[in-house]
Amino acid sequence: MINIDNYKTKLTSLLSFRMLFEKNRSSVSMNIDNLKVSWECPSNIALVKYWGKKEEQLPLNPSLSFSLKKAHTRTTVTIKPREMKRLNFRFEGEESSFAHRVDQYLDKLSIDLSWINDYSFYFESENTFPHSAGIASSASAFGSFGLCMADINHKITGKKADNEQFLHEASRLARLGSGSACRSVYPGFAWWGKSSAYKGSTDCFALHVNKIHDIYSDMCDAVLIISSDRKKISSSAGHALMNDHLYREIRIRQANSNAIELYQLLKAPDHQRFFEIIENEALTLHALMMSSMPSFILLKEESLKIMDKIRMYREDTGIQIGFTMDAGPNIHLLYFREDQRKVHQFIESELKDLLEEGKWLDDRIGEGPVRLI
Ligand code: DP6
Repeated sequence: MINIDNYKTKLTSLLSFRMLFEKNRSSVSMNIDNLKVSWECPSNIALVKYWGKKEEQLPLNPSLSFSLKKAHTRTTVTIKPREMKRLNFRFEGEESSFAHRVDQYLDKLSIDLSWINDYSFYFESENTFPHSAGIASSASAFGSFGLCMADINHKITGKKADNEQFLHEASRLARLGSGSACRSVYPGFAWWGKSSAYKGSTDCFALHVNKIHDIYSDMCDAVLIISSDRKKISSSAGHALMNDHLYREIRIRQANSNAIELYQLLKAPDHQRFFEIIENEALTLHALMMSSMPSFILLKEESLKIMDKIRMYREDTGIQIGFTMDAGPNIHLLYFREDQRKVHQFIESELKDLLEEGKWLDDRIGEGPVRLI
């Protein structure tokens, strides 16, 4: 197991959700000409998948996810009066090709936040988890950028917002960089996408799912690394496969019904049904990629073997575990904290040989973002 706690410098101790908000409300003194903000934002794993978009980064269907506890991006943004170069982006202390995407992101934001054109931006970003390990780094990265930019926006414009409004705004700004990032700005579970079954829901930003059953606040996620090779297809190209997909309308119906049912299960648990839906979502995502034109096979032999073993273990032991996946071969093994010891044993004895260099990450549901400065 890779210990993410030690992968980078130790995580800054997490403030509670409430403290984060209180602090957010009070800190307004700054020098606009040299303003610095800093946020840490988790990645998230979707249980109901966002797959396919319309218009400006809006989802075809609602999605539901939870934020991770250990896999974070920390970003510091300093703004100065506009110089020749608008963006200076460093990732883990080095120049990075990701700068191009961040520059495009600033372009997008500037349509709405016109002050962006008056400043130069210094972004310094780092992750607490290894690259290409089956954890969505664009979700935590753009989550942290959205929080930083919402924070700067409030300071520059003097706009007043309560904590909930601030996070909605951060979520909306994060979405413009990467859709799944809009769900990362909350602790625990988040819902993104308009649905008549979810009050107040919108395609523009995600909402924090509250009042869930206690058992789900202890959800664990073992990220099993089957391959850390670069993605075969980018997320944007993947979403575009849904534009004229033969199963597009059916998928939209299925995702809506899965999202609503899963949301209800978070309040009134039925573990068997919970894992049925989650696995159905993961397998559907891959089935959609396999049945698109052009088609993509992202699963590896080991992915299939592991899914099979997880199901067999569940059947044999009655222990409630299940799997989900993103658009890649790696598997997120989900289980409950009370079974941690047994599940870790299962991974070490039954699954480890199928993993790339035996690697897996031990993560679980987290407390959401933290303001660092
Ligand atoms: C399969 O959010 O990475 O992980 O909006 O183009 O940045 P962009 O896509 P992205 O897509 C994530 C797709 C997914 C499912 C999910 O996280 O809901």
